[in-house]
Amino acid sequence: MPVIKIFLALGIFLFLSTSASAQTLAFQLRGGTQTRSVEELAKITPVVEVQTRSPIDDKKRRFKAFALKPLLKAMYGEHWKRDDDIVFTCTDGYQPSLPGAILQRHDAYLAFASADGQDFSIFDHGKVQDLGPYYLIWDNVRDEAFDDEQPQVWPFQVTALEPVPFKLRYAAMLPPARSSAQVRRGFLVFRNHCMNCHSINGLGGSLGPELNYPVNVTQYYAIPWLKRWIAMPRSIRYNATMPPLDAEAGTRDKMLNDLIAYLKAMVGKKVAPPR
Ligand code: HEC
Repeated sequence: MPVIKIFLALGIFLFLSTSASAQTLAFQLRGGTQTRSVEELAKITPVVEVQTRSPIDDKKRRFKAFALKPLLKAMYGEHWKRDDDIVFTCTDGYQPSLPGAILQRHDAYLAFASADGQDFSIFDHGKVQDLGPYYLIWDNVRDEAFDDEQPQVWPFQVTALEPVPFKLRYAAMLPPARSSAQVRRGFLVFRNHCMNCHSINGLGGSLGPELNYPVNVTQYYAIPWLKRWIAMPRSIRYNATMPPLDAEAGTRDKMLNDLIAYLKAMVGKKVAPPR
């Protein structure tokens, strides 16, 4: 079933009278923080109803929500760029971030209430967790391309957003200064295909192992085996959970060579992860 988007012109009056006015969202930017209530957000972009299936509980549910893109545009204007990551701050201190490019390609929403009569909460890690004030959801019911590069990030109890330039946040994983064009291309492959799951110098995802610190993978794996692993993990370990590199046959070898060049270059740039 397609996503149901109903513009709740009347609904606005209903939810204004409830606790929604206490649900504020902070937009941070160097130089200050601006806070907006649900009513104020509704003046920027209309309330929509979104149906999703969250990976947290694997249930189809409907929420009242705001589309994220118009909010970012209204609040950050020119500061909201492709090169930025958006960092989400949650009540418990969890702080996931998302590449701006992913936010531009797919439709994310900030939900602030249930639209199907259920409590605005979710069963996660063995207990019922409040979703409010805001819950980041994705249009994974209607958006068919979404599954291919599905962001693993569905933070709830979101209280604040902040765009952070990628270069500042990820300095320790950028290729060394004056790297060759091949190394720089390899970094882009890593950023687009590997970084959600793997870290370099502690930066990136933690679903798969760290690949640089203290010993870089190119230092303990023979390069031909490493390439084969990245292209087809299951041709080496039958139960590997890592997905094969998603690339057209014609470009795969080039991508692999670029990637290896980047990984090798990082042998010369080891930065101890924080803690
Ligand atoms: C969806 C998550 C995911 C993605 C994307 C991913 N990996 Fe992995 N990777 C894993 C997991 C999990 C493992 C651990 C072995 C397993 O279960 O497959 C792993 C293992 C590895 C290993 C072996 C490390 C060791 O010390 O044994 C290497 C090297 C590696 N990945 C490189 C890459 C590269 C390069 C990319 C990008 C092209 C990539 N991975 C993309 C999840 C991922």
